[in-house]
Amino acid sequence: SVEATLILVKPDGVARGLTGEILRRIEAKGYRLADLAYVHADRELLAAHYAEHEGKPFYEPLIEFMSSGPIVAIRAEGERVIEGFRVLAGTTDPTTAAPGTIRGDLGRDWGLRVQQNLVHGSDSVESAERELGLWFA
Ligand code: CMP
Repeated sequence: SVEATLILVKPDGVARGLTGEILRRIEAKGYRLADLAYVHADRELLAAHYAEHEGKPFYEPLIEFMSSGPIVAIRAEGERVIEGFRVLAGTTDPTTAAPGTIRGDLGRDWGLRVQQNLVHGSDSVESAERELGLWFA
């Protein structure tokens, strides 16, 4: 069925000038860009967004990284877009993400304590609703 998902171009993607390339891939796949925002996220928003990762070793570096620069937040819509975007993005680790995916083609491991992996996509209908509510309040 037609779904909505939250996609983020993370600070590394924006800083590297890959926003256009990432939006191009989303649109080329046939998903609709229903809303778009340029956001400098504060810790409060990021703590809410990443609540499930609190306490993990990469949590603090992740919040630091995500607040280090602007993010492009996207509400994308389409048939099975939640799963579809996660396939477009590729797996978390850019070194092993499949070629053809955003992370596989454009991402690299910088040897840091957090994976700077260019994009985020909601992982379920429930998290999409929750995350869209946070980023597009
Ligand atoms: P994201 O989909 O935004 O969800 C959590 C983020 O934490 C993830 O993308 C990566 O940026 C980062 N992350 C997840 N797992 C690890 C890990 N094992 N080591 C470092 N960073 C990670």
